[in-house]
Amino acid sequence: MPAFDTVVRNARVVTAADTFTSDIGIRDGRIVALGLTLDAGVREIDAAGRHVTPGGVDSHVHFDQPTGDGSIMADDFLSGTTSAACGGTTTVIPFACQQRGHTLREAIDDYHRRAGGKPLIDYAFHLIITDPTPQVLKEELPTLIAEGYTSFKIYMTYDALKLSDREMLDTLSVARNEGAMVMVHAENADCIAWLTERLLEAGHTAPRYHATSRPMLVEREATHRAIAFAELIDVPILIVHVSGREAVEQIRWAQSHGLKVYGETCPQYLFLTADSLGCDDSFEGAKCICSPPPRDKANQQVIWDGLENGTFEVFSSDHAPFRYDGPDGKRVHGDNVSFDKISNGIPGVETRMALLWSEGVRTGRITAQSFVALTSTNAAKLYGLYPRKGSIAIGADADLVIWNEGGEYPVENTRLHHNVDYTPYEGMRLTAWPAITLSRGDIVWDGDRPCGETGRGKFLRCIPPDPARPRRRKAILPL
Ligand code: URP
Ligand code: ZN
Ligand code: ZN
Repeated sequence: MPAFDTVVRNARVVTAADTFTSDIGIRDGRIVALGLTLDAGVREIDAAGRHVTPGGVDSHVHFDQPTGDGSIMADDFLSGTTSAACGGTTTVIPFACQQRGHTLREAIDDYHRRAGGKPLIDYAFHLIITDPTPQVLKEELPTLIAEGYTSFKIYMTYDALKLSDREMLDTLSVARNEGAMVMVHAENADCIAWLTERLLEAGHTAPRYHATSRPMLVEREATHRAIAFAELIDVPILIVHVSGREAVEQIRWAQSHGLKVYGETCPQYLFLTADSLGCDDSFEGAKCICSPPPRDKANQQVIWDGLENGTFEVFSSDHAPFRYDGPDGKRVHGDNVSFDKISNGIPGVETRMALLWSEGVRTGRITAQSFVALTSTNAAKLYGLYPRKGSIAIGADADLVIWNEGGEYPVENTRLHHNVDYTPYEGMRLTAWPAITLSRGDIVWDGDRPCGETGRGKFLRCIPPDPARPRRRKAILPL
């Protein structure tokens, strides 16, 4: 009887630390052997001459998330995880969002119902806290963290989601005590509201004014404030979807002062600019409306630099899928409505890995090891999934990407598997794409089509992540 269920032969294995040639022996969904001449497997996959990386961990995606304004996300847990798998991602972490006036438990239960029987790959949940009542802070949140929901996002903007400064402090304090990772959406809500009013008064309603209403200053101010709050409470935080120089400077300042402030960025800040929202008044620019908005070429370079120099810990997609045509997505408030009424978010779960491998690794901007750290290992560590996820190591889940490289892989929406009717990256000519994606040893993308049973993805309980541990260097709070 063969020693392994699967052997991936002669792989050029890349981890966050090394690159080496090895066979990968897989049994019962786990990596059980690494070596040069492993015994036969029931299935043999020849990876000679190919890079093999850990499956991607996309720690910032929105699937089937209730929105509150009538819009409907185009991807549920089936299409979203299928699209992820076809792009080399094997773990996703979407958001269970608390509705104001409701409990966190209701959000979790509802989100498990939405996921039920659908995911093709493994998944965990972040919470979104919108209503931090004493009951939520004292009872629910500690209980849910102990149950394996060890990260949550808080918003400094969007009327339906944002917390006051005082609420942020209360929430950060619970994270510190319970060892949870806090993700912060950092934009100043009042500045945006004020600018939006002025723009609309002046008749500037086209999609491109979305970027004008959210200049880098509003991101810088909120990032600065969030960092100050984190320092006061002595708790690590992660600033999500960082768009450009001004927020990067705040994060680097914090890091250089020894604060545990982590940064996340996304493909839209490398490959789109404010011009992607249109140079005229056409509604087409709605396709690239997301927050914070993409900036300019110089800021794209700042984001590349931050990926290279270690400012950023994670490269996530922030996949927020709204269709361009039809009444449910970008046009939920009608055709040609003003920019402030257009659903925020763009798709990207399937293109994230190939964009960074193609334009980052193959152009020499970042190393293959950095790619692995940014797309997989660091997210697994930040959110309490390591070492089960995020590495190619004995005992880890056999989540692998075997790469096709050197050919031309044009990005075309018709070839993607999400349920969105466009991709912002249409027409880009990439030089790499996953040839095969394995999830716990099962092929879920064979280079041609998604494979595997609907619902095979497992829910993952996260452990309190090590990077969320406070510094405990000095107490600002004399307790
Ligand atoms: O515009 C964006 N980024 N939409 C998704 C929701 C969020 O804030 O991440
Ligand atoms: Zn956000
Ligand atoms: Zn998001």
